[in-house]
Amino acid sequence: MLSVKNVIDIADLSVDDINLILENADTFNEVLERDLKKVPALRGKTILNLFFESSTRTRISFELAAKRLNADLINFTASSSSMKKGESIIDTIKTIQSMIVDLLIVRHSDSGVMDFISRNTGLPIINAGDGKHQHPTQALLDLYTIKKAFGDFKGLKVSIVGDIINSRVARSDMLLFKKMGMDVTLVSSSMLLPENLDYFGVNVRNNIDDIIETADVIYMLRMQLERQERKYYPSINEYNRFLSLDFKRLQSMKEGAIVMHPGPVNRGTEISEAVMNSEDTMKQKIKINEQVRNGVAARMALIYLILTTG
Ligand code: CP
Repeated sequence: MLSVKNVIDIADLSVDDINLILENADTFNEVLERDLKKVPALRGKTILNLFFESSTRTRISFELAAKRLNADLINFTASSSSMKKGESIIDTIKTIQSMIVDLLIVRHSDSGVMDFISRNTGLPIINAGDGKHQHPTQALLDLYTIKKAFGDFKGLKVSIVGDIINSRVARSDMLLFKKMGMDVTLVSSSMLLPENLDYFGVNVRNNIDDIIETADVIYMLRMQLERQERKYYPSINEYNRFLSLDFKRLQSMKEGAIVMHPGPVNRGTEISEAVMNSEDTMKQKIKINEQVRNGVAARMALIYLILTTG
């Protein structure tokens, strides 16, 4: 049984919770490999996908996860709702609540919205990404992908590379990877690093070449152009010199090491076209599509555990 009903911050989950989610993800992963990719575990439950910010992977992944568990899933998109006519977020939520739902999955640009919705509805809530703050289910699917590649976490060297300061994925991944015993290094320029790094207990480097031959996991981050209210880096050329993954760097990674990225990728910025185009022939090394695939099983596990916890 999970110790929580809400997953707003990855720190909400204990190590026992995390291991339980991973075990269940394995079970659901087997379901997804069958011809009939469905179990009746959540028949009669209703889940609402509330997305106030754009998404491809996360929204579809939660939708598939709910449907594979036989729950009813409703998609709410702010841009085509009565919020366009001026309805407030709280009136929107109360309206939806009147229709009786069991779980809310919320993506929003404002970090405070998750607590606000949780307090005002009393419904279980999963954070599907809030501003620059957290993306807990991305971190869970990342952890599950690492587990499938390495079997264990203790002592694995993980380097998270790129736009750390604007990244909710980096925040959730750092906390989760450290909690599971991994050795985490951030690779970025000082302009793209937050100030409170002592809190995370991570190492810091400024050049991807410092870690390329020793890291077990190279986690490339998306340059978050939509969240940059000022210019954080002088030029793409400069970024490519110190922080991008090109084919030469890919080939210098150690045997067994893997590349990850939460998507969507800015081709030519954080990862070169040549590396992106080689994913199909280098599946053992480049795990970006596998992360997306694992996201469905990891989210099935989390939804199932939340809705069956007494
Ligand atoms: N990784 C991720 O959150 O992608 P989307 O924005 O497409 O959901």
